[in-house]
Amino acid sequence: MRFVLQFPPLLAGLALACSAAAVGAQAVAPDMRSHPPADGAAPAAPPKAVVCMACHGPGGQSAQAQTPALAGQSARYLDLQLRDFQAGRRSNELMSPMAKDLTRDEMRELAAYFAAQKPMEQSFRADPEKARLGKAKSDETLCTMCHLGGFVGQNEIPRVAGQRFDYVLKQLADFKARRRTNDAGNMTAVSNTLSDADIENLAHYLAAL
Ligand code: HEC
Ligand code: HEC
Repeated sequence: MRFVLQFPPLLAGLALACSAAAVGAQAVAPDMRSHPPADGAAPAAPPKAVVCMACHGPGGQSAQAQTPALAGQSARYLDLQLRDFQAGRRSNELMSPMAKDLTRDEMRELAAYFAAQKPMEQSFRADPEKARLGKAKSDETLCTMCHLGGFVGQNEIPRVAGQRFDYVLKQLADFKARRRTNDAGNMTAVSNTLSDADIENLAHYLAAL
């Protein structure tokens, strides 16, 4: 079930802190190259993952500007987005056709597989001043009440740490312009308070985390 969160974020954060404690921390996967791992912790690549990697990169480590990294993302968030793309609640000309024919089992398997991959070492070179302003804005807006410290994400709330710069820029602008509306209002409310400069600064901060 989708979280329906309310502003002010303090309340949402408290509610989430409780649910996060109940669910427990997301399993941290071993290195993606060792598949299947001896301890059986990380799932082997499902057949359709090859298709996904054409855009999202090997193991979900995207090297394309507006294509998000999937590696290390919360499995529940990935699964939710796949369902949203399939149902038309979120749409993108490249991604929507990819979700169209996935079964529920395939979605769950793909989500579990990409969530278990280790997030990529960051090569993005943030502008230090913009990243500093982005962090200040994040602190002021209490982003981490939902996304958790270091933007590591939880449950249906995505990891944004180390996400691709151009992708973060586009999503924040899409939420603000209500081109992306599958967020139960959480991000449209937040992004309304952000100027274009804030969005750019935040993307510098987040991409380098
Ligand atoms: C043709 C290129 C392409 C292929 C192939 C593709 N995707 Fe995507 N995917 C994208 C793009 C571009 C986006 C970003 C859409 C946007 O801007 O909203 C995206 C977004 C996503 C998201 C949302 C991530 C987030 O952080 O919100 C998920 C989950 C996803 N793709 C999973 C998959 C899976 C699983 C497959 C394989 C079945 C796949 N994709 C195949 C291009 C692709
Ligand atoms: C009230 C909780 C809440 C707050 C506060 C919040 N977020 Fe979010 N954020 C969410 C949720 C929930 C989603 C996923 C929405 C969905 O399911 O499509 C999200 C999605 C995002 C995404 C898209 C990630 C992706 O992979 O597509 C970005 C980027 C983001 N948030 C950045 C921020 C920043 C920056 C701030 C502070 C300025 C912030 N968020 C504050 C709840 C929150």
